[in-house]
Amino acid sequence: MGSHHGFFLGIPFVLFVFLGFMLFPAEAAIKKYKFDIQVKSVSRLCHAKPIVTVNGRFPGPTIYVREGDRVIVNVTNHAQYNMSIHWHGLKQYRNGWADGPAYITQCPIQTGNSYSYDFNVTGQRGTLWWHAHILWLRATVYGAVVILPKQGTPFPFPQPHIEEIILLGEWWHTDVEEVEKQGIKTGLPPNMSDAHTINGKPGPLFPCSEKHTFAMEVEQGKTYLLRIINAALNDELFFAIAGHNLTVVEVDAVYTKPFSTQAIIIAPGQTTNVLVQANQMPSRYFMATRSFMDVPLPIDNKTATAILQYKGIPNTILPTLPQLPAPNDTSFVLHYNNKLRSLNSPEFPADIPLKIDRKLLYTIGFGKDSCPTCVNGTRLLATLNNISFSMPQMALLQAHYSSIKGVFKTDFPDKPPKPFNYTGAPLTANLGTSHGTRLSKIKFNSTVELVLQDTNLLTVESHPFHLHGYNFFVVGTGIGNFDPAKDPAKYNLIDPIERNTVGVPTGGWTAIRFRADNPGVWFMHCHLELHTGWGLKTAFVVEDGAGPNQSILPPPNDLPPC
Ligand code: C2O
Repeated sequence: MGSHHGFFLGIPFVLFVFLGFMLFPAEAAIKKYKFDIQVKSVSRLCHAKPIVTVNGRFPGPTIYVREGDRVIVNVTNHAQYNMSIHWHGLKQYRNGWADGPAYITQCPIQTGNSYSYDFNVTGQRGTLWWHAHILWLRATVYGAVVILPKQGTPFPFPQPHIEEIILLGEWWHTDVEEVEKQGIKTGLPPNMSDAHTINGKPGPLFPCSEKHTFAMEVEQGKTYLLRIINAALNDELFFAIAGHNLTVVEVDAVYTKPFSTQAIIIAPGQTTNVLVQANQMPSRYFMATRSFMDVPLPIDNKTATAILQYKGIPNTILPTLPQLPAPNDTSFVLHYNNKLRSLNSPEFPADIPLKIDRKLLYTIGFGKDSCPTCVNGTRLLATLNNISFSMPQMALLQAHYSSIKGVFKTDFPDKPPKPFNYTGAPLTANLGTSHGTRLSKIKFNSTVELVLQDTNLLTVESHPFHLHGYNFFVVGTGIGNFDPAKDPAKYNLIDPIERNTVGVPTGGWTAIRFRADNPGVWFMHCHLELHTGWGLKTAFVVEDGAGPNQSILPPPNDLPPC
């Protein structure tokens, strides 16, 4: 019918549409999704087990939006666990209500209840992801978020023939909530995962898993965009494709200066977009992923595989495996991270804060609490500036917005209470480790530099830190102790990488900068779920500004009660 109208109205109609297009270009759309949290039995290794899913799918559905769109995701919880969903990397400007971390920005959605996450996607394009943000449920409750550039805005790299999402994950034989409980009960790290997965499938190197292999078909001569997401709970991962180089073009939904590499390293929470050219002899090639672990822990050699299959090649051809960096190849990781640079073009500038209002130094450490019922009489915990974060009973954002006293304090120290040789000989000393819901208050629009310093309290380890509500610039990193007199002179203030999750190297430090222009309560934590559970987290309270659009939006009516 529409075409008939157009036909009869003729030229004036066409002109009207054309003028309308000129005056109101690319109007923002509302994208609606429905997420039903359901338990479903799925099989991946030798036997099936019930897992928590979205819409019965594992991994969950992809959210496709365009920059500028409004997204409404109605989540209904049919599972026996409390639930909340986080849109990892979405800035949620003034709108922490849609951010999702349980007890930080909202109370969880209880069984039988619903909540609509309603947010605008502004000033961001690229690959992000969503995941459950309560307990260890994100082990199976996760999926991709793809933000396409605005209509008519091309990628700043060659247009790929086809794009594909590659979600890397971890799989346990048993129920993850039981695994988590076992850790709490014993006070020790619980069992490591039994397999890694690519798009939910472990691939043929695991027993009983041949039929659970992800395959991607390619045509000789064409270029493909892989949107790679590390959805693993606790493992930093290497990823490579046999015979094919990867050209990195974006991380955490920020364009990078393109560079070619044989393998990538990706920490839990991070995303990496790579271009792959199908320029090899038509055959079948394995994609593979395996852990990076440069601390003396039992080396984890589980390799998940998927297949890059050239069109017309039969399934009988045995694929070759790529060469992944060794599990403890720290130098590959440092070198790779050093190659990551913001594109910093006129169209996509890197607006790095140069004058800093607030300097913070947070140490990352492990510790032990006495626990008479635990295996060694102690329970492991993790700290920032010697404080292990206690989860509150109600959402911090609600407490802040409604000025409810007694839920949290804003006395998180700007520096470690007692400086020491952070990365010297292993320390077992208890440096006065305490527990508390202590946050740091930040003035609206002030510029912040935060140095995250690993320590050798019990042991050194690398930690991927994620900040909600913001991207930040990674201006410096190094091994050993941060030196405030010398290290800032070596900062990259020209084209540092901008991202939402950054690895603090084992026994080293990382300096990040951001402008606190998003009011709210924003969680910051290690994205290794094991460490988060041990208390390696805190939050920033970014105050409202004085301007008309500089304060937290009112909460939605359906915000879940506690
Ligand atoms: Cu991807 Cu607070 O998490």
